[in-house]
Amino acid sequence: MIKKRIYSPGPVDVSPLTLLEMAQPVMHHRTKEFEAIVAEVVEGLKYVFQTKGDVLIFASSGTGGMEGAISNTLNPGDKAICVRGGKFGERWAQLVSAFGGEPLNLDVEWGQAVDPQQIADALKADPSIRAVCVQASETSTGVAHPVKEIADIVKGYSDTLFIVDGITAVGVMDIPFDRWGLDILVGGSQKAWRLPPGLAFAAVSDKAWAAVEKCTQPRYYFDWAKEKKNLAKNTTAYTPAVSLMVGLAQVLREMREEGLESLFARSASYARAFREAMLALGLKLFAPDSPSDSITAVYGPEGMDAGAIVKHLSSKFGITIAGGQDHAKGKIFRVSHMGYLDALDMVTAVAALEMTLNDLGHQVELGAGVRAAQKALA
Ligand SMILES: Cc1ncc(COP(=O)(O)O)c(C=O)c1O
Repeated sequence: MIKKRIYSPGPVDVSPLTLLEMAQPVMHHRTKEFEAIVAEVVEGLKYVFQTKGDVLIFASSGTGGMEGAISNTLNPGDKAICVRGGKFGERWAQLVSAFGGEPLNLDVEWGQAVDPQQIADALKADPSIRAVCVQASETSTGVAHPVKEIADIVKGYSDTLFIVDGITAVGVMDIPFDRWGLDILVGGSQKAWRLPPGLAFAAVSDKAWAAVEKCTQPRYYFDWAKEKKNLAKNTTAYTPAVSLMVGLAQVLREMREEGLESLFARSASYARAFREAMLALGLKLFAPDSPSDSITAVYGPEGMDAGAIVKHLSSKFGITIAGGQDHAKGKIFRVSHMGYLDALDMVTAVAALEMTLNDLGHQVELGAGVRAAQKALA
């Protein structure tokens, strides 16, 4: 028998308690009982997004939240700076193009964070730019982009929105939406929320709502104004993902009980311990300078296909992690610090990696990484 463990940067593991909540008989969504769930979930989301404004909920994967962010705020022909430092940065540019906008691509080497000065310069040179789109955590590379610094710059432009993909950041890293003055922040259930895939969230500022009003773009399912009106009545425009919402209510109760400070500190400690372990094994981090706390990307040993590590972990140990994407394929592997996992899961991941490397012919001292992780966690 092999016990299955999922340490991929989404989907992540879901706790037995949340699974039990979601296993309850499906309730009808046009009932007082479900309205109470919506009300509870909206309040909980506001707590985690750190906003007094609106947080919208969609029955979609995270990309639905990203699509709505563009289709509700940018008019055809509008220019948007898209920070392309990985697979998901590219998605912003594709979405802007798909809705007739003009993406101004700010290409950043994979593994590096964007330099906020480049955004300041671009906006100064062309104040007609309507949006700046970035990832708080670029999952394909394990980089955390400097969200606060960029927010401070974009704030100076009254007609420019700061649109942030927080799909692997919200609930892991401290991104106070109101305090930092973000305009849109997107989240997704299968990441920090310790839920199965199927929900997208978006916090929306007053500045963004003003853009929504002026937006002439055709839209239907992802019509944010319609969704806002319905949420004000504790309901949703269309049939919601009822069971996921019930699970979300449970997760949010747990998050509130733990408190944001502890939640963020815990994720940071797992990420730190994992990085220390990789360095102790002589491996190189893909994003050493600005690492995300939700996922770590690591180069495989010289001459070894990193995809073989991913495969071996799965076949021999039942552990799912992720490989690299596009040109990072075969070069890196990626391990999550999100979901229903704790410090010992990180130690387990390191132990399995040590055994995997040895099995694949790259000799490392067994326990060296584990020791480094334990020391960092102590
Ligand atoms: C940073 C980031 N953005 C966007 C997405 C896309 O989300 P989804 O696959 O839920 O549509 C992901 C998924 O891995 C992600 O990590």
